[in-house]
Amino acid sequence: MTRQIIKKADSVLGLPTGDTPIGMYERLVGFYGQGILDFSPVTTFNLDEYYGLPIEHQKSFHRYMGKRLFSKVNIQRDNTYVPNGMTDSVKEECNQYEAEIKAHGGIDLMVLGIGVNGHIGFNEPGTPWDSCTRLVKLTEETRKREFVGLKDPPKKAITMGIKTIMRARKILLLVSGEEKAEAIKKTLEGPITNQVPSSILQLHPNLQIVLDEASAKSLSELSEVS
Ligand code: GLP
Repeated sequence: MTRQIIKKADSVLGLPTGDTPIGMYERLVGFYGQGILDFSPVTTFNLDEYYGLPIEHQKSFHRYMGKRLFSKVNIQRDNTYVPNGMTDSVKEECNQYEAEIKAHGGIDLMVLGIGVNGHIGFNEPGTPWDSCTRLVKLTEETRKREFVGLKDPPKKAITMGIKTIMRARKILLLVSGEEKAEAIKKTLEGPITNQVPSSILQLHPNLQIVLDEASAKSLSELSEVS
């Protein structure tokens, strides 16, 4: 990510949320503080946001991004896009999101995490490969995991689609923790099936993967993505 911004000052970045990228955001903020990075010409598009969850809710991705990155660097707020989960007109919001990505020349670097069921963004198992930004239903597994202890978690989310993600010029997949070991094995070594949405990444021409030891433990030693 740092290299991408240094190489192209006005980079268009696709950004994830979750626990895994927290370290990455801390590093970016650190490099900004040291004067290594300038975010003023950068544009960002977040992958997803819960539907019907107020922006100020502690679990909203708007809030996450504000807290971890946007309020800590010199990015222009007008250049930060996160789907509006409180919109009255979902279709328009989704079409507009795709149009903005296009108007910015597409995403240079898309950073992704992965769900335990292989979801990327909120593209749950069964997602068609040609999907774009749209409203989706969350699985019960995802709802429970993401909203531990919260009564009545959101049932839906707005997410970039698989097609939106795969169109990015470069993808960086970040994975950590033993609970992701099966998902990453299926992602890299299993068949390409929309029952494991992340398996499509095998076909991306410019994919980089960063795994910790725990998440990599089920991979065959000589596993290689062609
Ligand atoms: C959510 C997000 C995904 C993210 C995943 C994993 O479901 N929609 O984009 O990759 O969480 O999160 P974590 O890194 O906390 O395991």
